Amino acid sequence: MRVRFDIKRYDPEKDEAPYFQTYEVELEGTDRVLDGLNEIRWRQDGTLTFRRSCAHGICGSDAMLINGRNRLACKVLIREVGSRVRVEPLLGFPVVKDLVIDQQRFFQSYRSVLPFLINDEAPPPRERLQSPDDRERFDDTTKCILCAACTTSCPSAWGDESFVGPATIVQAHRFIFDSRDHGAAERLARLSGRSGVWGCRTIYNCTMACPREIEITQAIAEVKRAAVVGL
Ligand code: SF4
Ligand code: FES
Repeated sequence: MRVRFDIKRYDPEKDEAPYFQTYEVELEGTDRVLDGLNEIRWRQDGTLTFRRSCAHGICGSDAMLINGRNRLACKVLIREVGSRVRVEPLLGFPVVKDLVIDQQRFFQSYRSVLPFLINDEAPPPRERLQSPDDRERFDDTTKCILCAACTTSCPSAWGDESFVGPATIVQAHRFIFDSRDHGAAERLARLSGRSGVWGCRTIYNCTMACPREIEITQAIAEVKRAAVVGL
């Protein structure tokens, strides 16, 4: 089928303002939006700029606004979106060029919650064991691929630049509830203010935006509870 792509373009070095550019591509219903973007870049317009790497929903690099929803271009089939596709960069962050946003603030926030295992005890000879029930406590949040779809769909994050955003809390959750980790108190202390978990207004946009179907709002609620009553 012939698919029309309306793509938001912007090169801060030469454009006064963003604008939409239209391209037409021949695609199958089983092709992905990413296939269409690649087709445009490789055969029609090499200046079109976007991020992608794995093409299989694992690296998180091609999150963008597709027909008004935050999605991974490699996970959306053309038959889901039809013959007209509008593609824009994720909202709430400066645009570097076209569909590429500046993620510096996003990753600064991510690093602020110590997203790694903290345990100074000497490791046992083989591995640090935990029960299946203990593992289950943070299973959902291990699925995060840091695509930023949640944080850039969150009105609280748009309204307050100091708010760490849902992705950071998801990453903190993954370690706070890990029975092998000893850094929960420090992470909870860092998240206990209005720029942390209390910046969340339980709007659920993040949960709806997550391409990994993580129950983000529930994870945030669990971190809020831990901040008040402990683990
Ligand atoms: Fe992306 Fe989901 Fe992780 Fe947010 S929680 S960064 S939407 S994978
Ligand atoms: Fe890796 Fe889409 S290209 S998630």
